[in-house]
Amino acid sequence: MMLLKVSGPVKQNKRAVNHCNLKTGVINIYALHVKDLSYTYRAGNRPALENITFKVAAGETLGVVGLNGSGKTTLSYCLCGIIPHYFYGTMTGTVTVKDMDTRKTPLLQLTDEVGIVLQDPNVQLLMPTVEDDIAFGLENRKLQPEIIRGKIEQVLELTGTTHLRHENPNRLSGGEKQLIALATVLAMDPSIIVFDESLSMLDQAGTEKIIRVMQLLKKRGTTMVLIDHTGKGHLVYDKISILEEGKIIRRGPRDQILADRQFLLDHKLLSTWEG
Ligand SMILES: Nc1ncnc2c1ncn2[C@@H]1O[C@H](COP(=O)(O)OP(=O)(O)OP(=O)(O)O)[C@@H](O)[C@H]1O
Ligand SMILES: [Mg+2]
Repeated sequence: MMLLKVSGPVKQNKRAVNHCNLKTGVINIYALHVKDLSYTYRAGNRPALENITFKVAAGETLGVVGLNGSGKTTLSYCLCGIIPHYFYGTMTGTVTVKDMDTRKTPLLQLTDEVGIVLQDPNVQLLMPTVEDDIAFGLENRKLQPEIIRGKIEQVLELTGTTHLRHENPNRLSGGEKQLIALATVLAMDPSIIVFDESLSMLDQAGTEKIIRVMQLLKKRGTTMVLIDHTGKGHLVYDKISILEEGKIIRRGPRDQILADRQFLLDHKLLSTWEG
């Protein structure tokens, strides 16, 4: 199983270096920059991603939509460094998170900036209780116990899961697990968050909770990539990229893409979104 609990010291003055490479003095307003990215899994017989290029500005929310197998999860792994650090397929092109080339930057350093809520929350929840899972990354960053306690309370409240604090994550429903996985990510206070289908297992109330959190994060200036097969999160997007068979076949401002109903219909996306 892929282990996603990465530990180590917290980077200093994270916010101060947000958009400025201190060595070169170059100001980068893009939180994410993907350039000519192609990826083929070691066991794959064709590229899962092919020549993907896009930028996400700091504070922007990008919705990535596409049918099953179109490459959404693979892209999410590339954005946070799981590819190439955990998977040993063939990656060409570059992914830059702030000023860090994911290929050249240790995963631990990337996780200070970019958090991911995985499609399968079971991979993210490994501890005996919810609060232990939330505390894990914070303890590894050697924060004071009272700060950790405060953070736990804050993210439980934010995700509406305070009542689950002492539960064993294994015994939670799929939707509850997704909320807790999000809480573990929020606790680390990343400036970029990638959500891989975080709304897919949630009922109406759970969806509303996460969308409220997303809207709050947006107000705070968090950069987000919402991988959202169902389109449930579309109110939060600023822009949309549509993936099909590993390629971006369309991208643009949210309203422009959503207004082109014929295109969505032709690519079998409309029924998914309106269903
Ligand atoms: N570990 C792997 N090894 C080999 N091929 C893989 C692996 N994981 C995914 N793939 C292949 O890569 C392609 C993209 O898969 P990916 O999981 O990124 O799609 P997705 O859009 O997230 O699909 P879904 O909507 O089902 O979550 C698919 O053809 C899939 O079969
Ligand atoms: Mg997926």
